[in-house]
Amino acid sequence: IPFLIGMKNGLPYGLFFDNSYKSHFDLGKENSNYYFYSAVQGNLDYYVIGGKDLKEVVSNYTYLTGRVPLPQKWTLGYQQSRWSYSVSQKEVQQIADKLRENDLPCDVIHLDIDYMDGYRVFTWRKDNYQDPKKFVQKMRKEGFRIMPIIDPGVKLDKNYPIYQEGIKKGYFVKNPDGSVYVNKVWPGDAVYPDFGRKEVRDWWAKNVKYLVDIGTCGVWNDMNEPASFNGALPDDIAFSDGKQRSTHAKMHNVYGHNMDKATYEGLKKYSGKRPYVITRAAYAGTQKYSTVWTGDNQSLWGHLQMLIPQMCNLGMSGFAFAGTDIGGFGADTTSELLIRWLEAAIFSPLLRNHASVGTRAQEPWSFGQPTLEIYRKYLKLRYHLISYLYDNFYQETKTGLPIMRPLVLNFPKDRKVRTLNDEFMVGDDLLVAPVVTEGQTERAVYLPKGDWLDFWTGSEYAGNTSILVKAGLDKLPLFIEKNTILPWDESSNHIDPKKNDVITFRLFGDHGNYIHYQDDGEDFAYQNGQFNLYKITISQKNTVELTNFGYNCPYKKVVLLSENGRQEFIFDQKNKTYKLV
Ligand code: GLC
Repeated sequence: IPFLIGMKNGLPYGLFFDNSYKSHFDLGKENSNYYFYSAVQGNLDYYVIGGKDLKEVVSNYTYLTGRVPLPQKWTLGYQQSRWSYSVSQKEVQQIADKLRENDLPCDVIHLDIDYMDGYRVFTWRKDNYQDPKKFVQKMRKEGFRIMPIIDPGVKLDKNYPIYQEGIKKGYFVKNPDGSVYVNKVWPGDAVYPDFGRKEVRDWWAKNVKYLVDIGTCGVWNDMNEPASFNGALPDDIAFSDGKQRSTHAKMHNVYGHNMDKATYEGLKKYSGKRPYVITRAAYAGTQKYSTVWTGDNQSLWGHLQMLIPQMCNLGMSGFAFAGTDIGGFGADTTSELLIRWLEAAIFSPLLRNHASVGTRAQEPWSFGQPTLEIYRKYLKLRYHLISYLYDNFYQETKTGLPIMRPLVLNFPKDRKVRTLNDEFMVGDDLLVAPVVTEGQTERAVYLPKGDWLDFWTGSEYAGNTSILVKAGLDKLPLFIEKNTILPWDESSNHIDPKKNDVITFRLFGDHGNYIHYQDDGEDFAYQNGQFNLYKITISQKNTVELTNFGYNCPYKKVVLLSENGRQEFIFDQKNKTYKLV
């Protein structure tokens, strides 16, 4: 994402270099008096992005390149993955059963490449799955959605309809001499769709229908750099740029973007729901179509330490919906690393545990009871805060501001937070300071200006100072700005958008106000005004004002938890207001 944010004389700016060729940034290494940017070809097409503060710069950048559209609400649930349960329906079922047996909330199970027939995209193996559609439906009844992986490489197989059709219509990228270009990926010899062309994207979107008809919940796009096992694709391979014949050199960095766009359009057209796409490769603007995960990390403390800066940088670059492979993808994780990873990731919008074939098991139960219990505790915390994350996405669609934020975004005047990369904010209200070092059981936490409450104990701290916090393995240091209201969802083992009768809010402190957003959590009806907005104001005298700028079907009951105990408000249909009972 060729975008950078800088500060000069205390004033922020953004620079976006819209050039998809291989480029080079030198941010003061050669000479601290200037930055250097170059690209091997293409135009010097760049934007200087202004704003009175950092938030405005991010807002303006995302105004230009696009914002993450409102996701389906359940996409914020926990997701379990491994390369490769997907070999058989039996294994996937076993994972689902264990999640429920162990009282672990979970919404999605991912199917890695082995569910396919010989790694042929848009096929399903027949040997270990009796009837994929029935199976997906059964999982759905148990509260799980199924997310299959798709790679761009199409197997070179003369008897495979997708290959046959692509060849007949000339949809694959070509050698300079006009023959179809072949490299190797999972299925062996494979060819690459030319996603820069609209007709190729439309064709891909039609193939996505195959998965929608089976009932899968989205598409996980992988290897879309595009990856190749037989050496990198040469620069001069013929790709279209959408207008004319172009080259791999120009289209490489937008290959994933165009594949994601095709996938998004297919899912939208054939499911009518808000598309759920996860991608490995992306360019500036891909956030309009897809979430991202940070690819193949390793089960290393150093890679866990990268999580915070990676997620914050992605967020500041438009990718508000992102995540890492929890526990680490490659190599063997440990109980301690897995727990600390989950704690650090618990506010990542994309919350997925994923591991490579050949590594030690890292499902929540794989390290015995104490690990399982801590894992469950954090998944439950996450599920209490789904509506809060969803509200943050509602705000993000308006402002472009990310969910996970570096402190500097919220406190730009505080010089101490400019280089702080081991703490982060969630929206405006939560401050999270995970332990990301092996063996550590306490840490220093910097609290910026304001009054802060320890989420676990309620202890109060005045900000503008560092404090030392005990953080045994089961403790994620978490602070809430005093006088904050948060929605607090009931415990559940998965997110059911139809359960929409009651909502609970928690007041931390003695007054506050909050805007809450509610809709059906899955389709586009909200774009025609089918949503409710609630404004809750609680004054120091404990008068509660609850207004609903609603369209239809507001909550029947609103519960408020505060130091004064529990208060319930019932919706009065006639007067369209809430009344304390
Ligand atoms: C790639 C992906 C990884 C996946 C594997 C097999 O390495 O990044 O997530 O499990 O391919 O499909």
